[in-house]
Amino acid sequence: MSAEQRTKTTSTELANALPPDEVLFGRSEAMKEVRKRAAKIAGTSIAVLLYGPKGTGKELLARWIHSHSAACHSHFVKVNCAAIPGTLLESELFGYEKGAFTGAREPKPGRVELAHNGTLFLDGIADLDLASQSKLLQFLQDGCFSRIGDEVERSVETRLICATDKDLDEEIVKGSFRADLYYRINVVCLKLPPLRDRREDIPLLAEHFLVRCQEQFKKQAEPLSMETLHYMQCMEWPGNIRELSNGIARHVLLGPTASITEEVTRSVTSSLPSASIREGVVPLKSLCKEAIRASEKNIILSALRANHWNRRKAAQELKISYRLLIYKIRDAGLAAKRKSMASRQEDEAGRSPSAAD
Ligand SMILES: Nc1ncnc2c1ncn2[C@@H]1O[C@H](COP(=O)(O)OP(=O)(O)O)[C@@H](O)[C@H]1O
Ligand SMILES: [Mg+2]
Repeated sequence: MSAEQRTKTTSTELANALPPDEVLFGRSEAMKEVRKRAAKIAGTSIAVLLYGPKGTGKELLARWIHSHSAACHSHFVKVNCAAIPGTLLESELFGYEKGAFTGAREPKPGRVELAHNGTLFLDGIADLDLASQSKLLQFLQDGCFSRIGDEVERSVETRLICATDKDLDEEIVKGSFRADLYYRINVVCLKLPPLRDRREDIPLLAEHFLVRCQEQFKKQAEPLSMETLHYMQCMEWPGNIRELSNGIARHVLLGPTASITEEVTRSVTSSLPSASIREGVVPLKSLCKEAIRASEKNIILSALRANHWNRRKAAQELKISYRLLIYKIRDAGLAAKRKSMASRQEDEAGRSPSAAD
């Protein structure tokens, strides 16, 4: 298969690859909002920016938008901006003519050209260097470009979807992303939440991956028990949906001994006080509650430390009210500790503990 063919995917292949909408969007409030907005803009040709941590389903959503757009019968062309070095990016995006540089033996269309009448998906847009950003901006301003080493000006019609896990506002402030390009690509922004902010969707996703992996590996696996699903809802999932999908693949391939069950149990119980696990019998509800309390306590402690035990600032950082933080400090048994830390700080700084509020 040529590189060109590899970058093109027809709408039929896409439709097959996409999970049903109930799975893709789930039931959580956060995703309901994403679904509502995505449905409103899919049929238009406006530029969309997908923003969310790695593994939250940005590429999948880009494919969903394409498959619900007028461009669905044409190609969905993905460019992984982080994977292509800046020097090669121009030729990848815009193509080249024969003899444009050493090794250019045949003319080659770029991905922009391949996406004519279709969708161009720029993944990891924040990783484009400034030179590539300005070339992309020129193209977006009038839809015209030239292949490298070619005089001919070409024009294409393409729907642009960009994705990033970086805060582009911050990148603009740092000077590593052009504000004018940001306004071009960000007509509508859809924010994908981390998996830990949509825990109610975890069982649905896990069951979906179980069915898919069993088909893919042609192997029956043990069903996911209520306990496993419950544990999974207590986990943090830093790798988001990708991590969940990998965990289920291990469950199917390696079986329960090396599966997610063990890993989940280990990750939850390791953060628990040992008194809560007696002779291997752990009451499920209290286990989850304790795990959440234990990690909350750690988070509160580090916010307090980072803010020199200033509780108002810590509350702001944690995006909770001051009153709620005080309640949680007491609930976590941190009140006495805080006092002694505050008075130590007071000794060091020579000010009263109330000033730390
Ligand atoms: N809502 C979802 N339903 C089912 N599978 C999903 C969902 N979101 C992501 N996935 C799967 O998780 C993995 C990571 O998703 P991807 O779209 O590549 O995330 P991102 O682009 O944000 O890194 C892929 O295998 C994808 O198919
Ligand atoms: Mg991705």
